[in-house]
Amino acid sequence: MKAALALGRAIALSAVSGTVKAKTVGNGSKNAATQLLRESMSWMDMYYDTEAGYLYNLDSKALLHDTRSSAWYAAGLLARNEGDDAEQAAKIVENIIVGQHKNVSSQWYGDYQIYPEEPTVGTSEYPPVIYNSWDPNWRGFVGTTFVLMLEEFSHLIPHDTQTRILESLHNATVGDTYRVGGVDDDNLYPSYSNPAIMRAFMSGWVGRRLNDSNMTISGEAYAKDIITLFDRADTLSEFNSGTYAGVSLYALTLWAKYLPQSSLMGQHGATMIGKTWEKLGQLYNANLKNVAGPWDRSYGYDMNRYLSILALQIWTLVGKDNAPINAKPWTMGHKDDFAISPLVAILAPFHNTLVSNDTLLALHTFPGTHTVSTSAFSPPWDTYPRNITAWLSQNLTIGAETFSEKVIGGPAKNPSSFNPAVVQWSRKDGSVGWLTLYAQVEELRAVASDSTLDLEYPKGNQTSTFTFLVGTNSRSGKRDVASWSDVEGIKVSVNGTVDMDYSVAFAGYVGGSGKTINDFEFWNFTYGMPEGSGKLPQISLSFELE
Ligand SMILES: *[C@@H]1O[C@H](CO)[C@@H](O)[C@H](O)[C@H]1NC(C)=O
Ligand SMILES: *[C@@H]1O[C@H](CO)[C@@H](O)[C@H](O)[C@H]1NC(C)=O
Ligand SMILES: *[C@@H]1O[C@H](CO)[C@@H](O)[C@H](O)[C@H]1NC(C)=O
Ligand SMILES: *[C@@H]1O[C@H](CO)[C@@H](O)[C@H](O)[C@H]1NC(C)=O
Ligand SMILES: *[C@@H]1O[C@H](CO)[C@@H](O)[C@H](O)[C@H]1NC(C)=O
Ligand SMILES: *[C@@H]1O[C@H](CO)[C@@H](O)[C@H](O)[C@H]1NC(C)=O
Ligand SMILES: *[C@@H]1O[C@H](CO)[C@@H](O)[C@H](O)[C@H]1NC(C)=O
Ligand SMILES: *[C@@H]1O[C@H](CO)[C@@H](O)[C@H](O)[C@H]1NC(C)=O
Ligand SMILES: *[C@@H]1O[C@H](CO)[C@@H](O)[C@H](O)[C@H]1NC(C)=O
Ligand SMILES: *[C@@H]1O[C@H](CO)[C@@H](O)[C@H](O)[C@H]1NC(C)=O
Ligand SMILES: *[C@@H]1O[C@H](CO)[C@@H](O)[C@H](O)[C@H]1NC(C)=O
Repeated sequence: MKAALALGRAIALSAVSGTVKAKTVGNGSKNAATQLLRESMSWMDMYYDTEAGYLYNLDSKALLHDTRSSAWYAAGLLARNEGDDAEQAAKIVENIIVGQHKNVSSQWYGDYQIYPEEPTVGTSEYPPVIYNSWDPNWRGFVGTTFVLMLEEFSHLIPHDTQTRILESLHNATVGDTYRVGGVDDDNLYPSYSNPAIMRAFMSGWVGRRLNDSNMTISGEAYAKDIITLFDRADTLSEFNSGTYAGVSLYALTLWAKYLPQSSLMGQHGATMIGKTWEKLGQLYNANLKNVAGPWDRSYGYDMNRYLSILALQIWTLVGKDNAPINAKPWTMGHKDDFAISPLVAILAPFHNTLVSNDTLLALHTFPGTHTVSTSAFSPPWDTYPRNITAWLSQNLTIGAETFSEKVIGGPAKNPSSFNPAVVQWSRKDGSVGWLTLYAQVEELRAVASDSTLDLEYPKGNQTSTFTFLVGTNSRSGKRDVASWSDVEGIKVSVNGTVDMDYSVAFAGYVGGSGKTINDFEFWNFTYGMPEGSGKLPQISLSFELE
């Protein structure tokens, strides 16, 4: 009972704001943040190794443990504060700090281990491979979690542990300054929104806390670049990703909640959150429970089937039943991200007040057919801002972006996550059909309009191909797909300079001619150019619901 009260206090405001807003959108959001905290913690409890003081790896890697999810769990333990929760949280935190990289001369100084059993990073047997044997973004993921713990729950953390957390944060912040986009394989530019926002925050917060004005000033300077990029069109450079828009919103909440008005971050955080949600709300189709494309970095093609951090935030806003989340979240693709839920739940009472009522309504009820036109800019990759268009109707949405970049697959150089042209539709059984253009070029003209998607490769030639990944049919639909007419719920007409003879192949979980991408099976529809064609590769797809 005592414990339940403590939880109530941590989340109390959420219940209050949830109730106010529930009047507009129904009763779904009542206590939604508390429910998110409880469900995610019950799930993680099953992975907790009390003896080790770490969470086991959530993908069950033969009893290995995991650092980042342990930090998130520790924050959840403090928020829940039942039984010996607080004691376990301190134990986890101490473990993580012991494992933090301590060599000031190494590029990964102040970063946190991926897992405690790992060999020493930087030995000849275990070479330092950025985003593999060490992940520079974990300074931000773990570090910001430590800040949140100090801000919200310092009364539950032993004094000497707090001292070590501050030392750890100091080292992580110093290590973050080693990061310079384009140097030593690093890619942190202000346009890499999610870690950039975390970096600026850590520097600003730790600098103030430790009276290190250099650190404070450096955080403000980095924030200024991020804000300037944002203000160009009120968009994050890393635009519209179910996973990373969620991280950016989390980090912007730290700006708004924990930095004073004398900080640029304190001044701009709240507005940036509101404006980011405004775009997300315009692109969201509550019938499909999906944010329309394009997605700069996505780990799936249907938010109902992979777990996005944005969906956790939507859960706290409109309730689990109305959010793109399965009743059993840990069965979804990319489910390990469920571990960040405690942070989302803890911040929801504050964060959710920054979401406008219009957006909140759009997250609950689709407002009617409309278009969206905006842009996003990711220097140094883009030669001009990406032009974004989307057309959304009740049961069909199309979203696309025109761009010219130095790389294939977006700034992350990852064709599996860069989705510049996406179509989604609702099927009879309520499930979502989708198709996405597989990223193969540095330049694309892509425009979404009423029921149509127009694509062109300005630098293409007769060897170019357009590959569309097309989601598999519903469980009751056709198992085999040989042409567009077998794709459930939609009629597709094609025209353009491409060869109208296309190939169809299957990429399956245990078979087919290709491998799944982001855990999703798909049919690969590929169009080439007619032999000897001198025309620019161009294709238009028109859609009609069945
Ligand atoms: C919300 O719940 C109350 C009481 O449980 C009920 O009277 C009311 O009709 C509900 N409102 C909506 C919009 O579902
Ligand atoms: C610290 O890192 C530097 C640079 O990588 C390396 O030369 C040095 O041997 C390391 N020191 C220790 C004690 O590992
Ligand atoms: C911080 O880094 C220093 C080296 O600069 C190291 O001696 C110290 O142990 C580190 N502190 C923590 C908490 O890792
Ligand atoms: C920072 O400065 C403030 C005000 O001068 C002081 O109260 C605080 O103890 C200082 N903190 C540190 C870590 O030096
Ligand atoms: C801050 O920067 C100045 C100038 O570069 C330097 O002299 C000073 O030692 C730095 N202070 C800290 C606390 O790092
Ligand atoms: C939403 O509407 C409610 C009730 O009309 C109002 O009190 C609240 O301030 C509005 N919230 C925002 C963020 O505009
Ligand atoms: C991008 O959009 C703007 C405004 O709609 C337009 O003026 C510009 O020509 C577009 N650029 C490209 C490359 O499509
Ligand atoms: C959208 O799909 C739903 C569910 O299948 C259906 O009830 C509704 O009539 C459809 N609306 C339109 C405009 O097609
Ligand atoms: C066609 O484009 C590809 C890829 O950019 C290039 O490698 C090839 O040389 C081009 N072929 C012709 C005939 O221009
Ligand atoms: C595409 O279809 C439209 C009408 O449906 C036609 O006017 C146009 O010529 C076609 N374009 C090509 C390249 O075949
Ligand atoms: C799609 O199919 C084409 C033609 O068979 C093949 O070249 C390409 O590698 C496939 N792409 C993917 C992403 O599976």
